[in-house]
Amino acid sequence: MLRFTVNNQPVEYRLDPATPLLWALRDASNLTGTKYGCGTGQCGACTVDIDGQARRSCRVPIGTIEGAYVTTIEGLSRERNHPLQLAFLAEAVPQCGFCIPGMIMAASVLLKRNADPSEAQIREAMTNLCRCGVYPRLVEAIQRAGR
Ligand code: FES
Repeated sequence: MLRFTVNNQPVEYRLDPATPLLWALRDASNLTGTKYGCGTGQCGACTVDIDGQARRSCRVPIGTIEGAYVTTIEGLSRERNHPLQLAFLAEAVPQCGFCIPGMIMAASVLLKRNADPSEAQIREAMTNLCRCGVYPRLVEAIQRAGR
């Protein structure tokens, strides 16, 4: 049995330690806001906060992070008017929306470290992919959320 804290709740997984965190979250915890895109660590749709780091959960075996504090988009949005959510809406960032939970989680980690990032710092930190190409609005939203 592997123990974690997920969205401030204690969680135990009776799963193979090689199970990717993405599938533990989605299938065992029903936290389906974390998305499956590529499964190879490229797209970032599955990004969650693990101990203050933005990590691709599809590439994180649960056996390697026992005891970790994990925050998913559901945990972030318990704060109903989170500045990132408001900023993403104000800048009309989402298009199809599939990548947005991972984008917001990566942005939340960035803003915890740097509340006023430059465009260059945002572009360097935000390696998540978006097939709709919302990148210009994404930069505006992250800067708005940090203000
Ligand atoms: Fe994990 Fe694409 S699904 S990076």
